[in-house]
Amino acid sequence: MDAAFAFDVLTTAALDEPCDACVVGLYDGEPVAAVLEVWDHALEQSLSKIASSSKEISGESGRATIVHTLGKLAPRRICIVGLGKRPASPHSLRKAAGSSMRRLGELGLSDICTTLHLDSGLQPAVAARTVAEGFAIGGYRAAPKRKEERPRDLIRVRFANEVHVEEAIRAGYCVSDGVNLARRLVFEPANLLTPTGMANIAQSVAASSGLEVAVLDETDMESLGMGLILAVSRGSDQPARLIILNHRAVTGSPIELALIGKGITFDTGGISLKKADGMGAMKGDMGGAAAVIGAMKAIADLKIPLNVMGVIPAAENMPDGGAYRPGDVIMGMDGTTVEIITTDAEGRLVLGDALAYARKLGARRIVDAATLTGAVSVALGPQASGAMTNSPELLDLVRTAGDESGERIWELPMWDEYDALIKSDIADMTNAAPPSGGSRSAGAIAGAKFLERFVGDIPWVHVDIAATSSSQDGQGWMQKGATGNPVRTFVRLAEMLAAKGPG
Ligand code: BES
Ligand code: ZN
Ligand code: ZN
Repeated sequence: MDAAFAFDVLTTAALDEPCDACVVGLYDGEPVAAVLEVWDHALEQSLSKIASSSKEISGESGRATIVHTLGKLAPRRICIVGLGKRPASPHSLRKAAGSSMRRLGELGLSDICTTLHLDSGLQPAVAARTVAEGFAIGGYRAAPKRKEERPRDLIRVRFANEVHVEEAIRAGYCVSDGVNLARRLVFEPANLLTPTGMANIAQSVAASSGLEVAVLDETDMESLGMGLILAVSRGSDQPARLIILNHRAVTGSPIELALIGKGITFDTGGISLKKADGMGAMKGDMGGAAAVIGAMKAIADLKIPLNVMGVIPAAENMPDGGAYRPGDVIMGMDGTTVEIITTDAEGRLVLGDALAYARKLGARRIVDAATLTGAVSVALGPQASGAMTNSPELLDLVRTAGDESGERIWELPMWDEYDALIKSDIADMTNAAPPSGGSRSAGAIAGAKFLERFVGDIPWVHVDIAATSSSQDGQGWMQKGATGNPVRTFVRLAEMLAAKGPG
């Protein structure tokens, strides 16, 4: 178990409250002596002395320094964290809270107070929410699997009092709970998280958060004609599942948003086998699915007034005697036929049936997240997810949601000329460009061009998270490994659409 968090609000001044550590912020270029005057005074100017003699205390974004108070103040330590330059943004607060909690968590400290949300220039509710998100995301630790594992303490964070931020703190907690759920799922090895296992988790999340859930098995998918997901799954002993989660908040109104997530619980490449080096990372090829489950949970817990559906095609891509082959022609539920060039371009196949299904159910807008291509990581690296769309308006919303969430999204073009990448001589399209047809050219876009055929004229955004779903080195405020990207974007998008009203 990774740590659970409890958030509440202080009734006394932070500097009078006994705790393991009080987290305070410092903006770049602002003097410690003035900003932290009361603390500095009580500690006989030691903070300003440290700041002037070394870089240990500074406003540099993400720097977190712990100073013991040795009985001079009620908090046993003060943790000074850099906020970067003013003005603060939601994400600079999120990162600062996360960086401090990462440090404090490593020291095993669990009774924390904070004033980070004060004096940011942001609306108090926005500041409190993002600080709460940062604490719970920064405090997350992937739970190792060892014979003996000590359960981690409950981490308690108390916010210096400010009017009416309780709700905002709770909202931040709901979001980070969804983020951390997604991270746990991505971390889980493929022998322990199969398509069936993922369906079970979706069911228990649905039960505890009040979502409707349906799980289709392979017989159901056969009757619906979902030949694409079934082809991918055929080489595996693990049966495929189609998981559908529904947050029905507004009766009589349509599904305003469908979130679709690639759920390949392990991607060997199939008959077009991947090379062995680093293949273990392909346990994370269900990052999109994990994000949909995490976001749906948060959307339900936040009671966002918008009908949202999550659809997850879950399957394992394995090579065996039953596996689909390069050269095969397969048909999706909407009748589209696909010539297989490589069985390693499996994500777009399972998503094709899921997109067609969401369309059939009447979704008004579709956003999918998928660890779809290595090519997106060549284009953008881990700094941003690639987005491709048939609707500039919807992409604008998704991008804004991403920016506010600190999950960057960058558009790649979808010009008609790229359709040539997936042109087939014998079927409606190929699942990848053949080596002679530019297989190393515009790979992320070729994937999106394939998906586009299944959405018709429904506004749709495809988010390729192959480089952002996990991070190799951590991001300072976040432990390395699964990031939970793009859970926060999805939740924010649902909030924005709900605020926009029908239309
Ligand atoms: N799951 C992979 C993409 C991926 C690569 C995700 C690295 C995360 C990290 C996907 O199924 C895949 O194999 N894509 C191929 C597509 C190609 C064969 C057209 C790729 O990117 O090489
Ligand atoms: Zn693949
Ligand atoms: Zn894959």
